[in-house]
Amino acid sequence: MPKKFQSPGGMHDVFGREYDYFEKIREVVCRNARIYGFEGIETPIMEDKRVFARTVGEQTDIVEKEMYAFKTKGGDDVALRPEGTAPIMRAYIEHSLYTKPQPVKFFYFKPFFRYERSQAGRYRQFWQFGFEVIGKGGPVVDAQIIKLIHNIFKELGVKNVMVEINNMGDEKCREDFHAALKKYLKKESNLLCADCKRRMKKNPLRALDCKKCVKIKENAPQILDYICKKCKEDFKRTLEFLEEVGVPYDLNPFLIRGLDYYTGTVYEFFASGKEEEDEGAPLALGGGGRYDGLSEVLGDEARPATGAAVGVERTILAMKESGFKMEKERPQVFIAQLGDLAKKKSLTLFEEFKNNNIPVSESFAQDSLKSQMARAGKLGATITIIIGKEEAAEDMVILRDMDSGQQEKVQTSETVKEVKKRLKEKKN
Ligand code: HAM
Repeated sequence: MPKKFQSPGGMHDVFGREYDYFEKIREVVCRNARIYGFEGIETPIMEDKRVFARTVGEQTDIVEKEMYAFKTKGGDDVALRPEGTAPIMRAYIEHSLYTKPQPVKFFYFKPFFRYERSQAGRYRQFWQFGFEVIGKGGPVVDAQIIKLIHNIFKELGVKNVMVEINNMGDEKCREDFHAALKKYLKKESNLLCADCKRRMKKNPLRALDCKKCVKIKENAPQILDYICKKCKEDFKRTLEFLEEVGVPYDLNPFLIRGLDYYTGTVYEFFASGKEEEDEGAPLALGGGGRYDGLSEVLGDEARPATGAAVGVERTILAMKESGFKMEKERPQVFIAQLGDLAKKKSLTLFEEFKNNNIPVSESFAQDSLKSQMARAGKLGATITIIIGKEEAAEDMVILRDMDSGQQEKVQTSETVKEVKKRLKEKKN
């Protein structure tokens, strides 16, 4: 027997019930995105590796350990996208979108790739939906993105969503904090893992985001004590806007996110209870913040920018934990058939129902009438149309009311009209 294959480690197939969750989330995200004035964007699944190395940061886990990076046959260094913000900024600059009315607002729903240790809620190919606002911004935009995502969670039935929020200061006011943090890390270096020791000099912030160095946070200096007046004021206004729109939040002075491009306000979303544990730390549903310096790193001038992304698989877990019930649309009509002539007539009838916008279902590949009726029952059809050999020859169909079990013969040409009438009667 030839070898049977499995999907690559940490990557999974999405079908059946899981696909229904994906569809539901996609529908809610796209509808809300349009209401809030976001346009969709698709970028290639891979980019020049430097797009991520320079922005997400050479010394982050994502770039150091988790990128699917390789050389193309032409010798280019590329990487499968581990996140969506840097590619969108690359596109914004490449297409001179700063010449359009600002801000430019994009949303996306797509797969990303990180070579992580797979476990529940952590995959090597995972999906995110996200929002980016580039070119103009301010605390009100940060607050509105948080509110938008909060609304989406609410519509998806995710209960008790909490936002953890912090402000990381800008490049300038972060210098003093870096100095204080380095001093502290040096003193407490016995609490640091090998990676954080190595990164301490160039990127001390990573120690505050390290899953292995949780203890280091206990007495660490807090960034909020070091940020400038403008950053403090922006942060205060963001919190006031959140209060205005009723989004609950917790201040987390050690939240610094796992990517280097952030400046100013940063935040993460958690479902209360935080049941899924990742080496003792809860898994975030999503996260984001301001990234005013990202465009400069990619060769443009500084542009105000902000955004956030949410993990789709983690959202599904949270929906299930919150007891969200997926309502599947009940087909109103099921067509069951027996014999070749009946199959032909069923195909035409199916098209007629479709053209009249009546949800219709079938199981044309099945020959047994008994199994087709069982399927109609399982799907919860309101009316089943039965075309047996005899009915096909007479150009008739049987209409079966699935609730009462009553059956009646009608002309094939009258079927759609008759079904419409009965569905209307049932509705009233
Ligand atoms: P991130 O925090 O790296 O941010 O990812 C956002 C979300 O993607 C996470 O909170 C999580 O739900 C999901 N996620 C990340 N890695 C995995 C994984 N291995 N398996 C399953 N889900 C995962 C970003 O990616 C930023 N680009 C967000 C952003 C947008 N900031 C500004 N704009």
